[in-house]
Amino acid sequence: MASRPSVLVVDFGGQYAHLIARRLRGLGVFSVLASASWGLRGVEGEASGLDLRGIVLSGGPASVWEAGHDGIAEWAIGMGVPVLGICYGHQLLAKVLGGRVGRAPRGEFGPTTVEVLDEDVILRGAPPRIRVWMSHNDAVLEAPPGSRVLARSPGSPVAAFEYRLGGTVVHGVQWHPEVTHSEYGLELLRNWASQTGALGTWSPGDIVGELVDHVRREVPPGERAVAAVSGGVDSTVAAVIASKALGDRLTPVFIDHGLHPEGEVERALRLLRASGLDPVVVDASREFLEALRGVRDPEEKRRVVGRLYGEVLAREARRLGARYLVQGTIYPDVIESGARPGADVIKTHHNVGGLPRDLGLNVVEPLRWLYKDEVRVIASRLGLPRELLEKQPVPGPGLAVRVEGEVTPEKLRILRRADRIVREVIESHGLQRGLWQYFAVLTASKATGVKGDRRSYGYVVAVRVVESREAMTANIAKLPWSVLEEIASRITGEIPEVTRVVYDITPKPPATIEWE
Ligand code: XMP
Repeated sequence: MASRPSVLVVDFGGQYAHLIARRLRGLGVFSVLASASWGLRGVEGEASGLDLRGIVLSGGPASVWEAGHDGIAEWAIGMGVPVLGICYGHQLLAKVLGGRVGRAPRGEFGPTTVEVLDEDVILRGAPPRIRVWMSHNDAVLEAPPGSRVLARSPGSPVAAFEYRLGGTVVHGVQWHPEVTHSEYGLELLRNWASQTGALGTWSPGDIVGELVDHVRREVPPGERAVAAVSGGVDSTVAAVIASKALGDRLTPVFIDHGLHPEGEVERALRLLRASGLDPVVVDASREFLEALRGVRDPEEKRRVVGRLYGEVLAREARRLGARYLVQGTIYPDVIESGARPGADVIKTHHNVGGLPRDLGLNVVEPLRWLYKDEVRVIASRLGLPRELLEKQPVPGPGLAVRVEGEVTPEKLRILRRADRIVREVIESHGLQRGLWQYFAVLTASKATGVKGDRRSYGYVVAVRVVESREAMTANIAKLPWSVLEEIASRITGEIPEVTRVVYDITPKPPATIEWE
């Protein structure tokens, strides 16, 4: 994968490094992340495996005076490829090139107007003033000797600069061109990337053959593999690719953990079959419920589900004589803050139920270099059902993180009914388009109600409906009151154990999308 023309994005701990890589990939530039926390040698090591065409130094929370990252900036400048510094990266490059960095005349946070002084390469065709997204206290006060100042703003005397010497081409921008709030951001990145020779060389739809070869290389002839499939896009795409590579040496395995929303198992199996897979279905629901008994802490629930999922999968692999496991892990899971790609540190949260790594199986991850939107492109190139692409995400631990506190069969039964009503009402009004997720949560609260002239004391159900692009942030959906009323009246009317329905009006951040 990495042998194609690539740009290395060095992550200095800002929240935007993945966004930079994704934007560049969207422009057809294969981009790989390296964390500054690996140190210069780690970053160099990552770069040495690439056909390196450019380097981006990202933003980050530190001050250039404290973090000791000069070595990485000096290394980048010496590599003979175009270098772009963004925010912290901009200041770092200016500093090591001999410019002056210090306290900004004023901090700039949020939308800021930048005055373009010189169009040069990166600002070619930009209007004289652009509204951009800034977030900084320090600023480049004087540009490095021999460089040109390309833009300024009230808080950034050198909001953008260009430095050229021999084969060295360095650009820095104080703002964040990678965020959609920045005008001219994508054009700026495209202009910069046009110097790398990598523009337009990457297209995820074209790499199906490469991914199939990868799996074929990883699983030696005569060996069998299982693929963990959940019915979600990533695991389905990984399994379809593996099945192209291995034919009947691959067995997809669907584990029913008994924590799925109503109808989800049938739907997942239907979609898997429509994708050309014929999974072995393992009903382990009793085991999971047993393991969850008395467990109240959300992260502990995730660990219990993940651990057991791994055990059941390993058991099934043994039964099938498979020593290899194909998983749909994607790039953001691989490269969480600070984790080296080879180091296998994965957030418990987001892979298939937080699978443990010590299952005694060789793990094959054909999608480990890809972002979600790229996996979707591959899914449609593979001709997988549209419904699969449009499905709302269901967390790996399923309803276990939507029942507050201990999970019991009774609570699952109540929650499934409430959840079905939420879905039915929203879909009957055709409101599902544009919604990222909509579901019910069974809270640990109880409240008093009157039903048929009798006082009753029952569960409080919360309804969560959000809009989002990629789950990093989310807004609450402003559903019509009449729809919310219909949901509340149906849930309390049809489910005797529920006395109240509340609507969660908290965006992400500060709340997460899931309740737990
Ligand atoms: P949060 O709740 O962190 O969720 O805002 C962001 C997205 O991730 C999904 N999610 C999970 N997916 N295992 C998963 O596979 C999990 O433990 C998990 N928790 C949350 C969530 O549904 C949302 O789309």
